[in-house]
Amino acid sequence: MRSTEPDPRIIVALDFPSAGPALELVERLDPGLCRLKVGKEIFTRAGPELVERLSDKGFDVFLDLKFHDIPNTVAAACEAAADLGVWMLNVHASGGRKMMQTARERLDRSQHRPLLVAVTVLTSLGEGDLGEIGFAGTPADNVRRLAGLAEDSGMDGVVCSPREARMLRADCREGFLLVTPGVRPRDAAKGDQKRVMTPGEAIQAGSNFLVVGRPVTAAPDPLQALERIRAELVLDTVDS
Ligand code: C5P
Repeated sequence: MRSTEPDPRIIVALDFPSAGPALELVERLDPGLCRLKVGKEIFTRAGPELVERLSDKGFDVFLDLKFHDIPNTVAAACEAAADLGVWMLNVHASGGRKMMQTARERLDRSQHRPLLVAVTVLTSLGEGDLGEIGFAGTPADNVRRLAGLAEDSGMDGVVCSPREARMLRADCREGFLLVTPGVRPRDAAKGDQKRVMTPGEAIQAGSNFLVVGRPVTAAPDPLQALERIRAELVLDTVDS
């Protein structure tokens, strides 16, 4: 089974349009200091080969493809991801219990058993958007319900906003992983993220892993930016 060791807690999002700049950045990072997230854009362009190259360099890779399909198709895709050697991957909780359970069972039989987490509600969806697709209640109500379903269906954790971490930490079993994007160091620009927390606040709220993109990838010195976030994290956690 893949490591749930918290350190490194920071997962750097490789949001690049091609493998070249992603690999250039990775050359300046260190697998002892961060994990890496490969999302839909770069995966669609650079594919499994990039994932294998990152793993060969010693990085844990979170394959963020948010699978959502019939159970058999999702389970097969999860198995393919496991064969690539990824550390973590994700599915949409709204794909339902059967889809999550089937994926879980398939991964349990895989050699490396990657961590499997679920997306509850996309943070881009407000109450009006949810109503339109037939989800009654507030985003928080839906996050809570879907996180419960994800837990019951054998997921290792969920991807959530740091603003939801405290609520889910109280609701969910110990050891259930909370993976949170929307994190910004104290002095960083927010970009298009609206509801952000600092790394220390997110950890104090119960987050286990922090997904950080532009504050590292767009920094003039990415390694120094990463080191600063790590230092901020330690200081804030010790302060509390
Ligand atoms: O650059 P930034 O730190 O905003 O990148 C955050 C990463 O986390 C991006 O890859 C983005 O797609 C992802 N993400 C997010 N909010 C969510 C889910 C994923 O920002 N609710």
